[in-house]
Amino acid sequence: MNFKDKIIKEKLPKHVAIIMDGNGRWAKQRGKNRIFGHKSGVKSVKEVVEAAGTLKIQYLTLYAFSTENWNRPKIEVDALMTLLLNSINSEKKDLIENNIQLKVIGNTEALPTKIRQKISKVIEETKINTGLTIVIALSYSSRWEIVNAIKNISKEVKENKIDISNINSDLVSKYLTTSEIPDPELLIRTSGEYRISNFLLWQIAYSELYFTKKLWPDFGKEEFYEAIYDFQYRERRFGKTSEQILRK
Ligand code: IPE
Ligand code: IPE
Ligand code: MG
Repeated sequence: MNFKDKIIKEKLPKHVAIIMDGNGRWAKQRGKNRIFGHKSGVKSVKEVVEAAGTLKIQYLTLYAFSTENWNRPKIEVDALMTLLLNSINSEKKDLIENNIQLKVIGNTEALPTKIRQKISKVIEETKINTGLTIVIALSYSSRWEIVNAIKNISKEVKENKIDISNINSDLVSKYLTTSEIPDPELLIRTSGEYRISNFLLWQIAYSELYFTKKLWPDFGKEEFYEAIYDFQYRERRFGKTSEQILRK
């Protein structure tokens, strides 16, 4: 089935978030080490970026490395950091040429200095781009982000900059790392795991969830289009009744 041609242009999500999972298992199935799986996953990132660009989706958030992933064996963490650095270096030109903006969310202070500097540079250089925004969640966890927001809001309350009566859902959103980004309408997770793994807990309150058994290195354009197609047949009710939605 060709999903791309079936996609309704007027019903596209503005923001798609992806938990890119299954690199390790993909490699193991082939008798290779986990790092081979991570390297193979880069191709899928490129495919998904291209597909999102083709559809003119505005935001694509990719969960690349969680706070908890720091607890993996050092050899794997180091390999992931090297892969990240190489990918940023090799893709920089393409990002600029394709009018793509790069953003990063997460505790970047935990990253090696070299990577942090490289990332800041690319963020700066792509700031003026107006096409797709790629948001890489790096050393990210939702609880880390929410704890940070609570600390910052508390500080401002203490300094009388915020009145407690003004704390509402919009204000909390402004203190998250995603303050300038709309909530994702669609969250995809690959590899057949049915969990969120500390990703965008606040932001996905009303996101449509799409789980696929495909391992990340096997996820390409067609799989991305299929997820968007599936999304377009969901009825998003936001607590209302189906009749209320259909009457609109
Ligand atoms: C996702 O693949 C990539 C990262 C979490 C960095 P995994 O490395 O988690 O692969 P599996 O889940 O072990 O197969
Ligand atoms: C989630 O995958 C994090 C990323 C995809 C970067 P994990 O493989 O770390 O998640 P768990 O441990 O299976 O929940
Ligand atoms: Mg995994």
